[in-house]
Amino acid sequence: MATTHDSTPPGLQQAAYDSVRSRLQALIQTDTDWVAAMATVACELHNAFENYHWTGFYRVVSSGHLQVGPYQGGHGCIDIAFGRGVCGTAAANLTTIRLDDVNTFPGHIACSASTVSEIVVPVLNRKGRLVAVFDVDSDLPHAFNDVDQSQLEQICSWLGQGWGPV
Ligand code: SME
Repeated sequence: MATTHDSTPPGLQQAAYDSVRSRLQALIQTDTDWVAAMATVACELHNAFENYHWTGFYRVVSSGHLQVGPYQGGHGCIDIAFGRGVCGTAAANLTTIRLDDVNTFPGHIACSASTVSEIVVPVLNRKGRLVAVFDVDSDLPHAFNDVDQSQLEQICSWLGQGWGPV
């Protein structure tokens, strides 16, 4: 069932993430490859939450260079250098960035003019190396809260450690 956060009690939001995690654990197998695993994570999360309007990955394809990976939503920019925009800054600093209003972030890359809030989570492989960032954009302000951040960080950690290229 799709869910919006503004009207959703925290327990239901948590339950929606629990349900996504169960589906991901059922769908993604040990022999699933990295691209299929990323595509499945993007799809399941995008379709579970109505306030996710662009949901997907930017992969580390060479030193200091991100390129778009599996995603759901309107078109995404193809290439992002480390240090540029929200994704490139999260990649360079290895930290989650959560913005209630993207206009407060100097250098935000507006792939879609309708984006208002955003969260970007680094994805590390089992050796602790950055392999991707996971980006969710919303057309609503304040779309992401502490529950979103901790759940997305858990999912990205599980994905990166299990399937991230080493
Ligand atoms: N907003 C991002 C760019 C990626 S897209 O919006 C899909 C950024 O500033 O990193």
